[in-house]
Amino acid sequence: MILVTGGAGYIGGVTAELLLNRGEGVVILDNLSRGHRLGLLNKVPFYQGDIGDRALVKRITSEHQIEACIHFAALAYVGESVSDPAHYFRNNVEQGIALLDSLREAGVNFLVFSSTCATYGEPQKVPISESHPQHPTNPYGWTKLFMERIMESYDHAYDLKFVALRYFNACGAAGDLGEDHDPETHLVPNVLKAAQGKLTHVSVFGNEYATPDGTAIRDYIHVSDLADAHIRALNHLRSGGQSERINLGNGHGYSVLEVIETARHVTGKAIEVKFEPPRAGDPTRLVADASYAKAVLGWQPQYGELAQILKTDWDWRLNHPEGS
Ligand SMILES: NC(=O)c1ccc[n+]([C@@H]2O[C@H](COP(=O)([O-])OP(=O)(O)OC[C@H]3O[C@@H](n4cnc5c(N)ncnc54)[C@H](O)[C@@H]3O)[C@@H](O)[C@H]2O)c1
Repeated sequence: MILVTGGAGYIGGVTAELLLNRGEGVVILDNLSRGHRLGLLNKVPFYQGDIGDRALVKRITSEHQIEACIHFAALAYVGESVSDPAHYFRNNVEQGIALLDSLREAGVNFLVFSSTCATYGEPQKVPISESHPQHPTNPYGWTKLFMERIMESYDHAYDLKFVALRYFNACGAAGDLGEDHDPETHLVPNVLKAAQGKLTHVSVFGNEYATPDGTAIRDYIHVSDLADAHIRALNHLRSGGQSERINLGNGHGYSVLEVIETARHVTGKAIEVKFEPPRAGDPTRLVADASYAKAVLGWQPQYGELAQILKTDWDWRLNHPEGS
């Protein structure tokens, strides 16, 4: 059985579904602080609680033969982490350590971890490879980098084998699962909410960056491609692979205005834009060098085109007007 923490959330939910479709056993642990009571939770053993609740994790590992953990559960709003860092360090790091210890006590030595391109901070060189220096510009990024370093020490001392997957911008929908956060801070869902008429406009933060149209450039990766990479990472560990840190992105950068223009084309809707001042700590350009994921995991994204990715989210919104 695979323990999926944060399986009631966006990326965890899509990955848990894919695991089930590939014949894997799944147990979900989520405190529902941010996730949803997805239909998925009726299909698998679901435990509502904190990853830092040692008694609960002990119960899960005694009730199920847990072979590995895919650990998505975390708080993930950059702005919130700046205004309330204590909450982020407690939830993501303090509870994260408790989870690692509970797994260790239960003899679970394989972990796939949701890390982020936010661990790199302001890039010195683009595209960003895994050897790029890591110096986050916000507490959220630090929580993920701390967890990477803690897992490295646990590998050295206790033989924990892990794969830290550093995602760039996750987006798109898979089946009944789409991106539905509250509040929503990500660009793609907000652009499509504006197309739906749920938002009056899209706020664009900064139009004087050193890019061709002045707006920031990001690498967008479909959630199903992320899910597939997690299962590949799991299989890498199962076959005796070493601990790894791996970027997951498409390797193409799109500016904010390019995303909006593509969304206008995909949806056929007018989308109004309002320019606002840039947000502190928002880098100009974040684009992955994802060649290592291909080399180590044999991973190749299936959704390479932004329009294709946006269409999956748009179709999901049309079929699920109330969200997840
Ligand atoms: N969405 C992105 O673009 C992106 C990019 C890089 C990294 N990540 C990371 O991927 C992971 C999943 O992101 P997401 O967008 O699916 O987020 P999400 O908020 O949709 O899902 C996270 C889930 O974790 C649960 N959770 C949080 N803290 C918990 C705790 N202490 N105990 C138990 N459950 C807890 C929440 O209830 C939620 O269901 C996160 O770790 C995030 O940092 C996301």
